[in-house]
Amino acid sequence: MRWVFAFINIAVFIVQWDLVFGRPARPSSSSGGIPRPLVIWHGLGDSYASPGMLEFIQLVKDKHPGLFVHSIYLDENLEEDQRAGWFGNVNEQVANVSIQLANIPELSGGFDAIGFSQGGQFLRAYVERYNSPPIHNLITFGSQHMGISDLPLCRPWDVFCHLARRAARGGFYTEWAQENLVQAQYFRDPDRLPLYLTSNKFLASINNEVDSAVNKTYSKNLSSLHKLVLVMFSEDKTVVPKESGWFGSYAPAEEESRGMRWPWTDRTIIPLRLQPIYIEDRIGLKTLDERGGVVLETC
Ligand SMILES: *[C@@H]1O[C@H](CO)[C@@H](O)[C@H](O)[C@H]1NC(C)=O
Ligand SMILES: *[C@@H]1O[C@H](CO)[C@@H](O)[C@H](O)[C@H]1NC(C)=O
Ligand SMILES: *[C@@H]1O[C@H](CO)[C@@H](O)[C@H](O)[C@H]1NC(C)=O
Repeated sequence: MRWVFAFINIAVFIVQWDLVFGRPARPSSSSGGIPRPLVIWHGLGDSYASPGMLEFIQLVKDKHPGLFVHSIYLDENLEEDQRAGWFGNVNEQVANVSIQLANIPELSGGFDAIGFSQGGQFLRAYVERYNSPPIHNLITFGSQHMGISDLPLCRPWDVFCHLARRAARGGFYTEWAQENLVQAQYFRDPDRLPLYLTSNKFLASINNEVDSAVNKTYSKNLSSLHKLVLVMFSEDKTVVPKESGWFGSYAPAEEESRGMRWPWTDRTIIPLRLQPIYIEDRIGLKTLDERGGVVLETC
């Protein structure tokens, strides 16, 4: 239910706001006015063809007749696709998706993309590592660009969520969790950053946080976006902290005045433009931002 409401809000938001799409301001030369295709990557607990997703796709198509929309899947079976949101190796998943996208003729000239929740950082990984065919505008809704510091709470009937939570008890930074639990692969514990940096094979990589493994292709590719639109859900209770949608994160432990922090006081958030990866322009965010290519929105 939550997701259905969220989708309707998102759809209204997009339909009212053509700024990013700018359709048909930049029709591709060969297609004469046909809007640029759209690729979407669903969020956690959802599948590529759930009722909410289908409704969302329909709303966008109604607004932009003739629009080609592709909904990314890891498995054509809906339940397996939903399961892949919890269990799997994200690096492998993104690699598979890059093959999926490259094999769709309609996308060969490039496309715009929308990522919901974790689908947002996965699409960003696609841009940094593959981007062929290229993404023109990327919009992410409530994504976890600086990871999560806590697992999302499970809805009572969400079996995969409960299984994942149970499996996570063994620890997020074990080799097993880093290969098999999707959320562990973007779990970023502000109190254990060194462990995160050595164990995490996905988020630490796409954020170029590991000094010895900075990949310049990532920044070159990300800064090649026309616009990166980061939408944060202002009332988000599932993403901790919600500011992750804007590349915010909790300050690491040593930066907090330890003795002064009480459990009920909010931890300090490091915002986008004060993040080391931004200041050092490790993934091209600063370059993109200075060009006016980073748009921060709330929904
Ligand atoms: C990626 O694709 C290969 C080959 O189709 C498949 O065996 C593998 O399970 C896929 N991995 C994921 C994570 O989807
Ligand atoms: C950097 O990333 C690109 C794109 O994924 C990859 O082809 C290349 O091998 C990477 N470079 C290093 C040094 O890992
Ligand atoms: C992104 O990186 C890949 C190499 O991994 C490269 O082939 C591609 O052209 C790059 N795209 C952009 C837009 O820079």
